[in-house]
Amino acid sequence: MNVDHSAKDRRNTSNLLKARTGIEGFDEITRGGLPRGRTTLIEGGPGCGKTIMSLQTLVRGAQLDNEPGIFVAFEESAERIVANAAKFGWDLPKLQKKKLFFLDAQPKPELIQSGGFDLGGMLAALEAKAREIKARRIVFDAVDVVLTLLNDPVASGGKSTGCMNGCWGRT
Ligand SMILES: Nc1ncnc2c1ncn2[C@@H]1O[C@H](COP(=O)(O)OP(=O)(O)OP(=O)(O)O)[C@@H](O)[C@H]1O
Ligand SMILES: [Mg+2]
Repeated sequence: MNVDHSAKDRRNTSNLLKARTGIEGFDEITRGGLPRGRTTLIEGGPGCGKTIMSLQTLVRGAQLDNEPGIFVAFEESAERIVANAAKFGWDLPKLQKKKLFFLDAQPKPELIQSGGFDLGGMLAALEAKAREIKARRIVFDAVDVVLTLLNDPVASGGKSTGCMNGCWGRT
């Protein structure tokens, strides 16, 4: 199969617009990348690479297509994620000046204990930042943390629990 790697967006046979991730192999098997304008859930067991894959999608979006991105970190601190990614040579500090923003959103222990956790403040900050940098890609890592705290039935109900260990991105 031939994929035009210079194309920012391409449509598949069902006319679905795709945004390339810049991840070689992935864009080929998905025939162009992730559906644009939609939300994609990445699920998988601990350590399978969800965080790195989502981050790489933001990094390549910024580098190849000039699309600013925001990484909302629910689980690990932004500092730790940046440190973990250093070995991939993506030059995050340079991207962080304009094209890549990390939002630390780990729930505070005292709020969890009091049951006072809510997403309103974080979402307001996210919306303001997204407007400011004209974000085209947003990653939520990892949504299972939030859904559990919100007592979401999808996260806490039987079979789905294992599936909710994921990152959630919008392109
Ligand atoms: N494409 C890759 N090439 C090389 N190493 C990778 C790749 N993707 C992930 N890793 C490494 O695998 C380890 C786990 O990756 P990552 O943190 O992305 O997993 P995860 O699925 O988000 O884990 P968790 O469920 O604990 O959040 C890290 O040390 C990371 O650097
Ligand atoms: Mg992770």
